[in-house]
Amino acid sequence: MLSAGMGRSAKVELRCGRGQAIPDPPGQLMLRSIKFGNFGNSFRSQIRKGKILAYVISPNTVSWSLLQDGRVDVTAEFISVTFTNPSNEINPVRDPAIDPAFLLRYARTLDEYGFNYTLVPYASSSFDPFTIGATIAAHTRDIKIIIALRPNTLYPTVAAKALATLDQLSGGRVVVHFIAGGSDAEQASEGDFLPKEERYERLEEYIRILRRAWNSAEPFDFSGKYYRFKQFRNAVRPIAGTIPVSVGGSSDAAYRVGGALADIFGLWGEPLAETREQIARIHAEAARAGRTDRPRIWVTFRPIVAETDDLAWAKAHRTLDALNANRAKGLGRAPAAAAHPANVGSQRLLAIAARGDVHDRALWYPTVTATNASGATTALVGSPRTIAESILDYVDLGAELISIRGYDNLNDAIDYGRYVLPLVRDGLDRRAVETRAYA
Ligand SMILES: Cc1cc2nc3c(=O)[nH]c(=O)nc-3n(C[C@H](O)[C@H](O)[C@H](O)COP(=O)(O)O)c2cc1C
Repeated sequence: MLSAGMGRSAKVELRCGRGQAIPDPPGQLMLRSIKFGNFGNSFRSQIRKGKILAYVISPNTVSWSLLQDGRVDVTAEFISVTFTNPSNEINPVRDPAIDPAFLLRYARTLDEYGFNYTLVPYASSSFDPFTIGATIAAHTRDIKIIIALRPNTLYPTVAAKALATLDQLSGGRVVVHFIAGGSDAEQASEGDFLPKEERYERLEEYIRILRRAWNSAEPFDFSGKYYRFKQFRNAVRPIAGTIPVSVGGSSDAAYRVGGALADIFGLWGEPLAETREQIARIHAEAARAGRTDRPRIWVTFRPIVAETDDLAWAKAHRTLDALNANRAKGLGRAPAAAAHPANVGSQRLLAIAARGDVHDRALWYPTVTATNASGATTALVGSPRTIAESILDYVDLGAELISIRGYDNLNDAIDYGRYVLPLVRDGLDRRAVETRAYA
């Protein structure tokens, strides 16, 4: 069975089973045959006679991007995380207040260096992401704002309007990142006593309600297991008609709900083999849900960068010493005697850390152990070139969104903007040029 779906205007995605003929894509390019080459569990292939290098992400799915002139558009976008004050994990301050000047300096730095998104994270003890997001929107030009949202904190009709309000205020720059909730204790601290499996079921209902609220001109009723309302009418529409929905997590339930419903699926940085497996799981769930498209993959790292690889490794060990010392003083993200984390994503990171410190080119795990895997904690260590090549390895696997934030937040963001982003973007251009040469 062949199916074709249009994504963004220049992007064409086609699906077909192995061994079936690939349909000609719309546009100027004519594809006549495809050759599969084995590439671990996934496949990388080249189209003969066409001008396309295709990244085949699962045996059943071929995806590629076309530009009008026949170049391949291998894309990657960059995400960072919003910081509201100068406190960081190297020099932490206990419960720091917002420093508005720092917040704006940080956000503008990301915007000016060409980061595409900033995540405004959520924690039960921390600031309101909507207010922070609105402030960033008012003081930046292009950067998109990813609002982290736990369904237990806001009724879905209220969330639909809040997100659409921010979307209108920001000129269509809003994305929502859903957190079903990985820890029962953290959820209970804000009144949520559902077990995790049901939190994911509730998230499914929530996403369906938001999408309906964004695109329904008429009042509608909803009657589900977790939400029930009558005749809700929404006059606050997102600028593009909808808002991209992201889901993060590494449990079966996360793959199922995110694979079925998300536009973006967020992962923490694992080695290439494990990342490839996770991507395959997400794509399989998307196919199982009958989708003709798939979530775009977001992978998160904490690069430790310096002029040379040697200098970066020295900096990495200084960073690790600071993380350990701060945790011993009770200033770490995890308490000194923290329990084993409840969320699968953190458990996976700790299991990989137990197998070794360095994976692939430069993926470094001692920062995971030092922080009890509290959130995205895997480092990439090296010169800007090493970091860029490592990131490109993940782009080649099919990751389109790369989140990088450091341990010395503002200085790292500046270093990434100056030295890493341009090298990754050069690497993407080189891939397009190599493809053209191949044709
Ligand atoms: C990219 C990414 C960003 C995340 N941001 C947050 C966040 O801001 N706040 C939060 O509590 N959890 C965040 N999480 C954590 C997971 O969404 C959360 O632990 C999930 O509900 C359960 O994880 P599990 O399915 O792996 O067990 C994030 C996860 C990922 C992959």
